[in-house]
Amino acid sequence: MSDTAILEVTNLHKEYRIFHQAVPVLKGLALTIKRGEILAILGPSGVGKSTLLNLLGLLDSPTQGSIAYRGKDEQFYGRDLAALTLTEKAAVRNRLFGFVFQFYHLLPDLTVRENVLLPAMIQYSRGEFHRRKEKLVERARDLIEKVGLLERQDFPPTRLSGGERQRTAIARALFNEPEVVYCDEPTGNLDSQTGEKIHQLVLELNRQTGTSFVLVTHDHDLAALAHRRLHMKDGRFEDSF
Ligand SMILES: Nc1ncnc2c1ncn2[C@@H]1O[C@H](COP(=O)(O)OP(=O)(O)OP(=O)(O)O)[C@@H](O)[C@H]1O
Ligand SMILES: [Mg+2]
Repeated sequence: MSDTAILEVTNLHKEYRIFHQAVPVLKGLALTIKRGEILAILGPSGVGKSTLLNLLGLLDSPTQGSIAYRGKDEQFYGRDLAALTLTEKAAVRNRLFGFVFQFYHLLPDLTVRENVLLPAMIQYSRGEFHRRKEKLVERARDLIEKVGLLERQDFPPTRLSGGERQRTAIARALFNEPEVVYCDEPTGNLDSQTGEKIHQLVLELNRQTGTSFVLVTHDHDLAALAHRRLHMKDGRFEDSF
């Protein structure tokens, strides 16, 4: 892990509107995500962990605050990601970020290999994808091998166990060599033994690729292997109070 910050989040606020009533969830939160780190985010149910992850991953917009990017991508270096256009946000999500969710979010009609190739299908036009297909399929194969699913690569996710589905989701998240992978309760739906294997995989992939992982979790074993742990309370991180 290095001390270089990829993302610097300042004064982040998120308010949901429910029947004209503003419900504040994040209240001036500050956060730095460093290159190559595994960061665990903990806190009670309803405190705003998924809300925060959705903002960091540009799946939703903050009410106030900025997410300054200082990673490797020249196009976006120095920009406030929260202020990008929708098209730019989509490009950042596809090129710089990966996502892993509790319930996998795999497409049931695609095979493991096709699910892993999805980020490339989104990135490239149909023609460009076909021109590059051989290389892309080779990369998919390598990743599928890394997560231990080579014998399953032509299966649909419906024929996989929970742990195997999450391995597929992790391979997909890494396909475009992202700088940060956001994981929301990645082991929340798995038994402890299967969860433990996912922990080992995250550690191994973090070491091999230098990708930063942000893990939202209730799983104390998973949090224990992170380089840093932050606790959310009342819309901010506890140590920033
Ligand atoms: N789209 C939404 N509209 C309105 N309120 C929302 C929305 N999403 C979340 N909330 C509210 O914001 C608060 C934080 O929710 P969030 O899902 O971020 O919590 P969490 O920390 O991830 O909880 P859990 O550990 O149960 O997953 C909750 O009170 C929730 O009801
Ligand atoms: Mg949540």
